[in-house]
Order: sequence, then C-alpha cells, then structure tokens
Amino acid sequence: MAHKRIVLIIGGGIAAYKCLELIRRLRERGVGVRTVLTKAAQQFVTPLSVGALSNDLVLTDLFDLDDEREIGHIRLSREADLIVVAPATADLLARMAGGHANDLATAVLLATDKPVLVAPAMNPRMWSHPATRRNVALLAADGVRCVGPAAGEMAEAGEAGLGRLAEVPELLEAIEALLAEGAPKPVLPLTGRHVLVTSGPTHEPIDPVRYIANRSSGKQGYAIARAAAALGARVTLVAGPVTLPDPKGVTTVHVETAAQMLAAATAALPVELAVFAAAVADWRVVNAAGEKIKKQASGAPPALALAENPDILRTLAARGARRPRLVIGFAAETENVIEYAKKKRKSKGADWIVANDVSPETGIMGGDRNSVHLVTQQGVESWSEMDKDEVAMRLMQRAAEHLLANEAAAE
Ligand SMILES: Cc1cc2nc3c(=O)[nH]c(=O)nc-3n(C[C@H](O)[C@H](O)[C@H](O)COP(=O)(O)O)c2cc1C
Repeated sequence: MAHKRIVLIIGGGIAAYKCLELIRRLRERGVGVRTVLTKAAQQFVTPLSVGALSNDLVLTDLFDLDDEREIGHIRLSREADLIVVAPATADLLARMAGGHANDLATAVLLATDKPVLVAPAMNPRMWSHPATRRNVALLAADGVRCVGPAAGEMAEAGEAGLGRLAEVPELLEAIEALLAEGAPKPVLPLTGRHVLVTSGPTHEPIDPVRYIANRSSGKQGYAIARAAAALGARVTLVAGPVTLPDPKGVTTVHVETAAQMLAAATAALPVELAVFAAAVADWRVVNAAGEKIKKQASGAPPALALAENPDILRTLAARGARRPRLVIGFAAETENVIEYAKKKRKSKGADWIVANDVSPETGIMGGDRNSVHLVTQQGVESWSEMDKDEVAMRLMQRAAEHLLANEAAAE
C-alpha cells in the first residue's frame, strides 16, 4: 500500500470517530490520506483532529476559495488512487446514487474516474429501507464497491441489527485489495501475443487397441507452453497422448493422431509464434482395422500399409497471410544432429530449429534435462545442458526479443 494516496470522505454519522483510527492505520502503512468532511461530519469529528492525524489537507467546503485554489475539487477527485467513503450515510448514498454534486464530497465523487469504496453505517431500519436498498443496488451497478455494514449493537441504546460501520481491520483489508487491483500489472515480454505449441508423440492406430508411437514424453513442449504463459502470452498447447497435467493458464487441446494435431494447430491460427515440439509420427497405417486384428493360424503377421503423415511444421510454416511471424521447429536426431537441423530449417521453411541428440545414451527422450543447439539464419548456438524448464524459458525469452526487434525494424 505504501506510496498510494486515497481521498477519505467522512460522512455525518456516529461512526465517524472510527475514521480517526482508520487514518492512523493507513498512515502507518505509508498511505497518503487527504480528507473531505461533509458539513454533518463536522458535528461528529473536527477538521483539527482529522488534519492532525492525516498530516494532510482536510477539506470541507466546495466554495472555499482558498481550498479550491490550492487543490480544486476536480484535481482532488483524480489524483488519488482510491476514494473511500466512511461512514457512508444513508443520505450520502442517496446523493451518490442520484448523481448529486451539491457539496464538496458529492462533487468529488461525481467527478472521479478512480475506484470508489463505500462503508455504509446507519440505523438498521435505514439500511433495510427500500430506498437505501435501491440506492445501494444502483451504486453497485455503477461499479462502486461496498464494505459492510456489519451486524451488532448500534450506538443508539437498544438498537441492534445490520448497520454498524465495518471494523477498521476489515476496512483496511478492503482498501488494500482495491489498491492492489488498481496497481499496474507488470508488462511481460510476451503479453498480448498468441503462442501455439505442439507437444508429445502422436499415436497412429493399427486397430482399436494397438498403435504406432514414439518415446516422446511431451516434457519439453509442456515446459515451453508454461514458459510462454509465464511471460504473458496467451498459449494454445496442442498435445499428443502424454501423462502430464495440463499447464495452468494454458488452453490445452488433446489429440491423438498427426491428422488431428494438424487440424487442431490450424484451428489455433492466427498466432505470432509457433513452436512445433511434438514428435509427430512420420507414417500412419492406412489399412487400420476396425476390430482387433487376430493372430493367424498360419502364423503370418498382418501386412500394415503405411502412408506418410502430413508435415505439420512445413504446412504451417508455408508462406501466407496466416504464417506465424516466428516458426520454431524441433529436430530430434541420433546422428549428425547439427547438419540435419540446418537442412531441416531450410527444407521446412522454419525460422529456427532447436536440435537435440536423442540417442538413448543421452537420456533426453523422457528425461528432465536437455542439451540443445539453436539453429537460426545467423548460425548455430550450442547451449550447455540444462533443465527442460530452463531451455523453455531461454527459448521463449529469445523469441520475445526477436519479435520485438522485428517490429522495431519494421517501423
Ligand atoms: C446524532 C446523529 C447521528 C446520526 N448518525 C447517522 C448514521 O449513523 N448514519 C446515517 O446515515 N445518518 C446518520 N445521521 C443523520 C445524518 O447526519 C444526516 O442524514 C446528514 O444529513 C448526513 O449528511 P452527510 O451525508 O452529508 O454526511 C445522524 C444524525 C444525528 C443527529
């Protein structure tokens, strides 16, 4: 809350004295408090005590020439981070709901473009009166936030019910929450970008119970989806069959076959950045059986006819209006890793290829660590071995920088 400023409008109710405590607690937290007292409020607390506690201006009159020259009601209404009305009397709520501006408090409230929090306090019958109910509903519809009132004994002897001003800790909590809501969110490097990631293997059915697959675990692609989301992107993850939990804050589309993966990835367009980390099966079985294939008495194995699967990377990297601005492919090889990756970058039309050696002795397939080479138009960078999460974060940061630099160059 430190360094925030609020305007506290004190209404003419018995509970006004509690605002002295509220001001002290806000000041302790480093919040600047500028106070407006209604005419009625001054019957309950004095500008002198309020000013001494807030150590700031206390304003009371819309038509006070000195006050108006020094700060002005319009400036007063705009320069705070939040306006708090406590206690908000029944009459003040009615004037707010009616859009009145016939004193300094209501003029400030009508002129403000800042969040407003009201803390009503009144006799329970005033609170439950249809007129007050109506006014509170109108104010809620206008976006005014409300804290309390609480139930309990009223200041007037023998009166109890709903109408007490919320206690100071509750007021502080509500103020803190609203100040945090209004705080500017940090701008992350992929904020406002849509990123597509494919991940995992694909399963190509042979019959209803058997399929062709590969050893991809999906860990690297999932890590990339998480990293892109952490950097502020809206992420669509198209995942083949894996055993990983869906990443938080990411739209995950589950598919099984290469054909389904292509359809889901195409449906996600347009995206600015596409990362094809899935290990898509190169072939599918064209004569997949509708029923489980039985062993033959002759011992003859079934003849599987294979056809090439669609090339998702090449298809989506093809020039066209919907081509992602940055296309990153993955190359998993067991030999001549860099040479294959360089060729793949050109032949598939990708901008970058992340190449890794997936020979069984590396433990990369299914493991948590990775050792990659980033192949770009500029050359090859070999990254030292690191966690797949780290590879993902580094890659997404590089991608964010690339997108930004390209935009700056285009301007
Ligand atoms: C002793 C006393 C206590 C009052 N307490 C309250 C109260 O708690 N809540 C309320 O809505 N009005 C209360 N009122 C009535 C308001 O002071 C009155 O409606 C006034 O016009 C409100 O002005 P304001 O909203 O500009 O502060 C009280 C009046 C008196 C005389």
